[in-house]
Amino acid sequence: MLEIEGLEAGYGPVRVLHGISLKVPKGRVVTLIGANGAGKSTTLRAVSGMIQPTAGQVRLAGKNITGLPAHRVAQAGLAHSPEGRRIFPNQSVRDNLILGAYTRLTFGHSRPRGDISGDFERALDLFPRLRERQYQLAGTLSGGEQQMLAMARALMLNPDVLLLDEPSLGLAPVLVEEVFHIIRRLKSEGITMLLVEQFAHAALAVADYGFVMENGRIVLEGSATELQRDEQVKSAYLGH
Ligand SMILES: Nc1ncnc2c1ncn2[C@@H]1O[C@H](COP(=O)(O)OP(=O)(O)O)[C@@H](O)[C@H]1O
Ligand SMILES: [Mg+2]
Repeated sequence: MLEIEGLEAGYGPVRVLHGISLKVPKGRVVTLIGANGAGKSTTLRAVSGMIQPTAGQVRLAGKNITGLPAHRVAQAGLAHSPEGRRIFPNQSVRDNLILGAYTRLTFGHSRPRGDISGDFERALDLFPRLRERQYQLAGTLSGGEQQMLAMARALMLNPDVLLLDEPSLGLAPVLVEEVFHIIRRLKSEGITMLLVEQFAHAALAVADYGFVMENGRIVLEGSATELQRDEQVKSAYLGH
């Protein structure tokens, strides 16, 4: 569903990604593991059009989306729930969600993908806390609720592929559990996901397959079970 080949990208003159290649098959959850600064967020940004790749290719369901601006990538069916949430604090929860469907309403959308109000109800079913707070300004939500809003907003695109960047960052343990419960539920609904997570343990428990990144390169890949058993992964990322 998502194929990344030889992707290079960076910021100004600084190259961060040195040829990233990975695949996310349809309906699967793939996780990208790595220390702080390895380039995980940069990879997701280069895929979703937040930054421009300088080399390589990104394909979504066989279609070349390399270097397209973010709204065109969204139109093609890829949603990105970015690190640090990036919600609109002065808009209501409801308006934040509706803005998540923005590219479905404009630019002559090539894939309107069914009814937006149905997806709105589905998002609120998935995140009951957001239903209760739908008329509240998003900036007044707790950190955990804002994270849920970022995920729910990405889902409002009814995406073919969902990129999740550290959905549990800064959350209390009980909310981390809730976020992973929701990721499992999305997986059972067949949503294809590329998941970046600080809790490699939890990420490998929900993922089918994983890639390990160091200094802008993929250094290891394998099934989630293989990576959970790998000595190098255990000592570096699983705290054994
Ligand atoms: N907006 C930015 N401008 C300049 N350098 C950045 C920016 N964002 C990240 N970097 C640099 O790119 C490298 C990879 O960062 P990042 O992709 O955020 O890593 P990770 O998500 O794996 O922690 C780091 O060296 C970081 O300092
Ligand atoms: Mg990051």
